[in-house]
Amino acid sequence: MIIISDINEMQRLADEHRAGGRRIGFVPTMGFLHEGHLDLLRLARRASDIVVLSIFVNPTQFAAGEDLDRYPRDFERDCTLAESTGCDIVFAPKAAQMYPEGDASWVHVDQLGSSLEGASRPTHFRGVTTVVTKLFHIVRPHLSVFGQKDAQQAAIIRRMTRDLHFGIDIVIAPIRREPDGLAMSSRNTYLSDQDRREALALSHALQLARQKYDNGERRTAELRSTLLDELQRSGAVDLDYAAIVHPDTFEPAGEMITGRVLIAIAARVGKTRLIDNMTLGEKAIDS
Ligand code: PAJ
Repeated sequence: MIIISDINEMQRLADEHRAGGRRIGFVPTMGFLHEGHLDLLRLARRASDIVVLSIFVNPTQFAAGEDLDRYPRDFERDCTLAESTGCDIVFAPKAAQMYPEGDASWVHVDQLGSSLEGASRPTHFRGVTTVVTKLFHIVRPHLSVFGQKDAQQAAIIRRMTRDLHFGIDIVIAPIRREPDGLAMSSRNTYLSDQDRREALALSHALQLARQKYDNGERRTAELRSTLLDELQRSGAVDLDYAAIVHPDTFEPAGEMITGRVLIAIAARVGKTRLIDNMTLGEKAIDS
Protein backbone atom coordinates (compact mmCIF):
# COMPACT_ATOMS: atom_id res chain seq x y z
CA MET A 1 0.00 0.00 0.00
CA ILE A 2 1.36 3.41 -0.86
CA ILE A 3 0.59 6.77 0.71
CA ILE A 4 0.29 9.86 -1.47
CA SER A 5 -0.33 13.41 -0.36
CA ASP A 6 0.45 15.32 -3.56
CA ILE A 7 -2.49 15.94 -5.92
CA ASN A 8 -0.45 15.85 -9.14
CA GLU A 9 1.19 12.59 -8.15
CA MET A 10 -2.21 11.03 -7.43
CA GLN A 11 -3.56 12.18 -10.80
CA ARG A 12 -0.53 10.82 -12.62
CA LEU A 13 -0.83 7.43 -10.93
CA ALA A 14 -4.59 7.30 -11.59
CA ASP A 15 -3.97 8.03 -15.29
CA GLU A 16 -1.37 5.27 -15.42
CA HIS A 17 -3.82 2.75 -13.95
CA ARG A 18 -6.57 3.85 -16.31
CA ALA A 19 -4.23 3.58 -19.30
CA GLY A 20 -3.34 0.07 -18.14
CA GLY A 21 -7.04 -0.85 -18.25
CA ARG A 22 -7.33 -1.18 -14.47
CA ARG A 23 -10.59 -0.30 -12.76
CA ILE A 24 -10.19 2.19 -9.91
CA GLY A 25 -12.50 1.91 -6.88
CA PHE A 26 -12.55 4.89 -4.51
CA VAL A 27 -13.66 5.34 -0.89
CA PRO A 28 -13.61 8.95 0.35
CA THR A 29 -13.45 9.39 4.15
CA MET A 30 -12.41 11.83 6.84
CA GLY A 31 -10.41 9.08 8.59
CA PHE A 32 -10.57 7.66 12.12
CA LEU A 33 -11.73 4.50 10.43
CA HIS A 34 -14.17 2.00 11.88
CA GLU A 35 -15.76 -1.19 10.55
CA GLY A 36 -18.33 0.82 8.58
CA HIS A 37 -15.51 2.43 6.56
CA LEU A 38 -13.79 -0.93 6.21
CA ASP A 39 -16.99 -2.43 4.74
CA LEU A 40 -16.82 0.25 2.05
CA LEU A 41 -13.18 -0.60 1.35
CA ARG A 42 -13.97 -4.34 1.15
CA LEU A 43 -16.80 -3.62 -1.26
CA ALA A 44 -14.47 -1.52 -3.42
CA ARG A 45 -11.85 -4.31 -3.24
CA ARG A 46 -14.31 -6.85 -4.66
CA ALA A 47 -15.43 -4.54 -7.47
CA SER A 48 -12.14 -3.01 -8.67
CA ASP A 49 -8.49 -3.67 -9.53
CA ILE A 50 -7.06 -0.70 -7.65
CA VAL A 51 -8.59 0.57 -4.40
CA VAL A 52 -7.96 4.15 -3.30
CA LEU A 53 -8.91 5.46 0.15
CA SER A 54 -8.85 9.18 0.77
CA ILE A 55 -8.43 10.61 4.24
CA PHE A 56 -9.17 14.31 4.40
CA VAL A 57 -10.97 16.21 7.15
CA ASN A 58 -12.68 18.64 4.83
CA PRO A 59 -12.89 22.11 6.40
CA THR A 60 -15.62 23.45 4.08
CA GLN A 61 -18.26 21.00 5.29
CA PHE A 62 -17.94 22.16 8.91
CA ALA A 63 -19.69 25.34 10.00
CA ALA A 64 -18.14 27.72 12.52
CA GLY A 65 -18.62 26.24 15.99
CA GLU A 66 -18.77 22.65 14.73
CA ASP A 67 -16.11 20.05 15.55
CA LEU A 68 -13.49 20.64 12.81
CA ASP A 69 -10.70 21.35 15.32
CA ARG A 70 -11.37 18.36 17.51
CA TYR A 71 -12.44 15.87 14.81
CA PRO A 72 -10.68 12.61 15.80
CA ARG A 73 -7.56 11.64 13.84
CA ASP A 74 -5.21 8.63 13.87
CA PHE A 75 -3.43 8.37 10.55
CA GLU A 76 -1.12 5.45 11.48
CA ARG A 77 -3.97 3.32 12.72
CA ASP A 78 -6.09 4.20 9.65
CA CYS A 79 -3.29 3.03 7.35
CA THR A 80 -2.92 -0.28 9.20
CA LEU A 81 -6.68 -0.90 9.02
CA ALA A 82 -6.89 0.11 5.36
CA GLU A 83 -4.01 -2.20 4.46
CA SER A 84 -5.76 -5.11 6.20
CA THR A 85 -8.61 -4.81 3.65
CA GLY A 86 -6.22 -4.94 0.68
CA CYS A 87 -6.33 -1.20 -0.06
CA ASP A 88 -3.68 -0.12 -2.61
CA ILE A 89 -3.39 3.64 -2.19
CA VAL A 90 -4.10 6.06 0.66
CA PHE A 91 -4.53 9.60 -0.63
CA ALA A 92 -4.18 12.14 2.18
CA PRO A 93 -3.93 15.65 0.72
CA LYS A 94 -3.20 18.87 2.55
CA ALA A 95 -5.99 21.47 2.88
CA ALA A 96 -3.79 24.19 1.33
CA GLN A 97 -3.40 22.16 -1.88
CA MET A 98 -7.05 21.06 -2.01
CA TYR A 99 -8.23 24.66 -1.58
CA PRO A 100 -5.56 26.78 -3.27
CA GLU A 101 -5.24 30.47 -2.42
CA GLY A 102 -8.05 32.42 -4.10
CA ASP A 103 -10.16 29.28 -4.69
CA ALA A 104 -13.68 30.48 -5.64
CA SER A 105 -15.47 27.46 -7.15
CA TRP A 106 -18.27 25.51 -5.51
CA VAL A 107 -20.46 22.62 -6.60
CA HIS A 108 -24.03 22.91 -5.39
CA VAL A 109 -26.88 20.42 -5.81
CA ASP A 110 -30.33 22.01 -5.57
CA GLN A 111 -33.38 20.60 -3.79
CA LEU A 112 -32.12 17.37 -2.26
CA GLY A 113 -29.87 19.25 0.11
CA SER A 114 -32.32 21.77 1.57
CA SER A 115 -34.21 19.54 4.07
CA LEU A 116 -33.09 17.51 7.13
CA GLU A 117 -29.27 17.74 7.36
CA GLY A 118 -29.30 20.63 4.89
CA ALA A 119 -31.79 22.58 7.02
CA SER A 120 -29.79 22.00 10.21
CA ARG A 121 -26.40 22.53 8.59
CA PRO A 122 -27.01 24.99 5.71
CA THR A 123 -23.46 25.06 4.28
CA HIS A 124 -22.64 21.40 4.91
CA PHE A 125 -23.62 19.75 1.62
CA ARG A 126 -22.01 22.46 -0.49
CA GLY A 127 -18.74 21.56 1.23
CA VAL A 128 -19.33 17.84 0.68
CA THR A 129 -20.23 18.10 -3.02
CA THR A 130 -17.32 20.45 -3.68
CA VAL A 131 -14.71 18.27 -1.99
CA VAL A 132 -16.08 15.06 -3.50
CA THR A 133 -15.92 16.67 -6.96
CA LYS A 134 -12.31 17.69 -6.34
CA LEU A 135 -11.48 14.17 -5.10
CA PHE A 136 -13.20 12.57 -8.12
CA HIS A 137 -11.11 14.77 -10.45
CA ILE A 138 -7.94 13.77 -8.64
CA VAL A 139 -8.51 10.04 -8.08
CA ARG A 140 -10.39 9.54 -11.39
CA PRO A 141 -12.26 6.46 -10.20
CA HIS A 142 -14.56 4.18 -12.19
CA LEU A 143 -16.55 3.45 -9.05
CA SER A 144 -16.96 5.09 -5.67
CA VAL A 145 -18.51 3.67 -2.50
CA PHE A 146 -20.56 5.67 0.04
CA GLY A 147 -22.44 4.62 3.17
CA GLN A 148 -26.19 4.59 3.75
CA LYS A 149 -25.37 5.93 7.23
CA ASP A 150 -25.30 9.35 5.55
CA ALA A 151 -28.35 8.65 3.38
CA GLN A 152 -28.92 12.23 2.22
CA GLN A 153 -25.24 12.69 1.37
CA ALA A 154 -25.29 9.46 -0.67
CA ALA A 155 -28.40 10.59 -2.58
CA ILE A 156 -26.88 14.01 -3.30
CA ILE A 157 -23.61 12.50 -4.55
CA ARG A 158 -25.53 10.08 -6.75
CA ARG A 159 -27.57 12.95 -8.22
CA MET A 160 -24.50 15.15 -8.76
CA THR A 161 -22.64 12.31 -10.47
CA ARG A 162 -25.57 11.73 -12.80
CA ASP A 163 -26.41 15.40 -13.48
CA LEU A 164 -22.80 16.39 -14.20
CA HIS A 165 -21.97 13.24 -16.23
CA PHE A 166 -19.03 12.22 -14.08
CA GLY A 167 -19.23 8.67 -15.47
CA ILE A 168 -18.57 7.12 -12.05
CA ASP A 169 -20.65 4.25 -10.62
CA ILE A 170 -21.89 5.18 -7.15
CA VAL A 171 -22.34 2.19 -4.84
CA ILE A 172 -24.13 2.54 -1.48
CA ALA A 173 -23.17 0.20 1.38
CA PRO A 174 -25.55 -0.67 4.25
CA ILE A 175 -25.19 0.87 7.73
CA ARG A 176 -22.72 -0.97 9.95
CA ARG A 177 -23.86 -1.06 13.60
CA GLU A 178 -22.33 -1.97 16.96
CA PRO A 179 -23.74 -5.23 18.39
CA ASP A 180 -26.24 -3.24 20.50
CA GLY A 181 -27.54 -1.31 17.48
CA LEU A 182 -25.67 2.01 17.64
CA ALA A 183 -24.69 3.08 14.12
CA MET A 184 -20.89 3.23 13.86
CA SER A 185 -19.46 6.73 13.50
CA SER A 186 -16.08 8.36 14.02
CA ARG A 187 -17.93 10.81 16.27
CA ASN A 188 -18.98 8.01 18.68
CA THR A 189 -15.57 8.49 20.24
CA TYR A 190 -16.87 11.77 21.73
CA LEU A 191 -19.53 9.93 23.77
CA SER A 192 -19.06 9.52 27.54
CA ASP A 193 -20.17 6.18 29.05
CA GLN A 194 -23.50 7.72 29.94
CA ASP A 195 -23.93 9.32 26.48
CA ARG A 196 -23.07 5.97 24.91
CA ARG A 197 -25.99 4.30 26.76
CA GLU A 198 -28.37 7.14 25.96
CA ALA A 199 -27.36 7.15 22.29
CA LEU A 200 -29.08 3.79 21.91
CA ALA A 201 -32.41 5.67 21.90
CA LEU A 202 -31.86 6.49 18.21
CA SER A 203 -31.55 2.92 16.95
CA HIS A 204 -34.21 1.72 19.43
CA ALA A 205 -36.69 4.27 18.10
CA LEU A 206 -35.98 3.14 14.53
CA GLN A 207 -36.37 -0.52 15.48
CA LEU A 208 -39.70 0.17 17.20
CA ALA A 209 -40.99 1.99 14.13
CA ARG A 210 -39.91 -0.93 11.97
CA GLN A 211 -41.73 -3.39 14.27
CA LYS A 212 -44.92 -1.36 13.95
CA TYR A 213 -44.48 -1.21 10.19
CA ASP A 214 -43.88 -4.98 10.04
CA ASN A 215 -47.06 -5.45 12.07
CA GLY A 216 -49.01 -3.58 9.40
CA GLU A 217 -48.96 0.06 10.55
CA ARG A 218 -48.93 2.31 7.48
CA ARG A 219 -50.04 5.65 8.97
CA THR A 220 -47.07 8.00 8.77
CA ALA A 221 -48.22 10.05 11.78
CA GLU A 222 -48.52 6.92 13.96
CA LEU A 223 -45.03 5.75 13.02
CA ARG A 224 -43.66 9.21 13.69
CA SER A 225 -45.31 9.29 17.14
CA THR A 226 -43.66 5.97 17.92
CA LEU A 227 -40.29 7.53 17.11
CA LEU A 228 -40.93 10.68 19.11
CA ASP A 229 -42.31 8.79 22.14
CA GLU A 230 -39.28 6.54 22.28
CA LEU A 231 -36.86 9.45 21.86
CA GLN A 232 -38.66 11.53 24.49
CA ARG A 233 -38.95 8.58 26.89
CA SER A 234 -35.17 8.36 26.99
CA GLY A 235 -35.15 12.03 28.08
CA ALA A 236 -31.45 12.52 27.52
CA VAL A 237 -31.67 12.97 23.77
CA ASP A 238 -32.08 16.47 22.36
CA LEU A 239 -33.90 15.85 19.09
CA ASP A 240 -33.01 17.85 15.99
CA TYR A 241 -35.38 16.07 13.57
CA ALA A 242 -37.22 12.78 13.16
CA ALA A 243 -38.67 12.60 9.67
CA ILE A 244 -40.29 10.07 7.38
CA VAL A 245 -39.41 10.93 3.79
CA HIS A 246 -39.20 9.57 0.26
CA PRO A 247 -35.74 7.96 0.05
CA ASP A 248 -34.89 9.55 -3.31
CA THR A 249 -36.32 13.07 -3.00
CA PHE A 250 -36.26 13.57 0.79
CA GLU A 251 -39.73 15.11 0.51
CA PRO A 252 -42.05 14.23 3.43
CA ALA A 253 -43.93 10.96 2.96
CA GLY A 254 -47.70 11.16 2.42
CA GLU A 255 -50.31 10.35 5.08
CA MET A 256 -50.10 6.63 4.34
CA ILE A 257 -46.89 4.82 3.53
CA THR A 258 -46.78 3.19 0.14
CA GLY A 259 -43.53 1.98 -1.42
CA ARG A 260 -40.22 2.76 0.16
CA VAL A 261 -39.62 5.43 2.81
CA LEU A 262 -36.65 6.56 4.81
CA ILE A 263 -36.90 7.32 8.51
CA ALA A 264 -34.15 9.76 9.42
CA ILE A 265 -33.19 10.99 12.88
CA ALA A 266 -30.68 13.56 14.08
CA ALA A 267 -30.20 14.26 17.76
CA ARG A 268 -27.71 15.62 20.20
CA VAL A 269 -26.58 13.29 22.96
CA GLY A 270 -24.53 15.24 25.48
CA LYS A 271 -22.47 17.51 23.21
CA THR A 272 -22.40 15.09 20.28
CA ARG A 273 -24.67 15.30 17.26
CA LEU A 274 -25.61 11.85 15.94
CA ILE A 275 -27.60 10.75 12.90
CA ASP A 276 -29.23 7.43 12.05
CA ASN A 277 -31.79 6.14 9.58
CA MET A 278 -33.67 3.12 8.37
CA THR A 279 -35.42 2.26 5.12
CA LEU A 280 -38.88 0.69 5.25
CA GLY A 281 -40.67 -1.02 2.41
CA GLU A 282 -39.48 -3.31 -0.30
CA LYS A 283 -35.86 -3.29 -1.40
CA ALA A 284 -34.73 -2.04 2.03
CA ILE A 285 -30.95 -1.84 1.83
CA ASP A 286 -30.13 -1.58 5.51
CA SER A 287 -30.10 -4.42 7.98
P1 PAJ B 1 -16.93 10.02 6.87
O1 PAJ B 1 -17.89 10.48 7.91
O2 PAJ B 1 -15.53 9.66 7.26
O3 PAJ B 1 -17.58 8.80 6.14
C1 PAJ B 1 -16.96 8.22 5.01
C2 PAJ B 1 -17.92 7.25 4.38
O4 PAJ B 1 -18.20 6.19 5.31
C3 PAJ B 1 -19.28 7.88 4.04
O5 PAJ B 1 -19.72 7.42 2.77
C4 PAJ B 1 -20.17 7.40 5.16
O6 PAJ B 1 -21.54 7.34 4.82
C5 PAJ B 1 -19.60 6.01 5.42
N1 PAJ B 1 -19.95 5.53 6.76
C6 PAJ B 1 -19.76 6.16 7.94
N2 PAJ B 1 -20.27 5.43 8.96
C7 PAJ B 1 -20.80 4.31 8.40
C8 PAJ B 1 -21.48 3.17 8.93
N3 PAJ B 1 -21.75 3.02 10.23
N4 PAJ B 1 -21.89 2.21 8.06
C9 PAJ B 1 -21.65 2.36 6.73
N5 PAJ B 1 -21.02 3.40 6.17
C10 PAJ B 1 -20.60 4.37 7.00
O7 PAJ B 1 -18.93 11.15 4.93
C11 PAJ B 1 -17.82 11.68 5.00
O8 PAJ B 1 -16.78 11.17 5.75
C12 PAJ B 1 -17.49 12.97 4.26
O9 PAJ B 1 -18.65 13.75 4.15
C13 PAJ B 1 -16.87 12.72 2.85
C14 PAJ B 1 -17.85 11.99 1.91
C15 PAJ B 1 -15.55 11.95 2.97
C16 PAJ B 1 -16.56 14.11 2.20
O10 PAJ B 1 -15.69 14.85 2.99
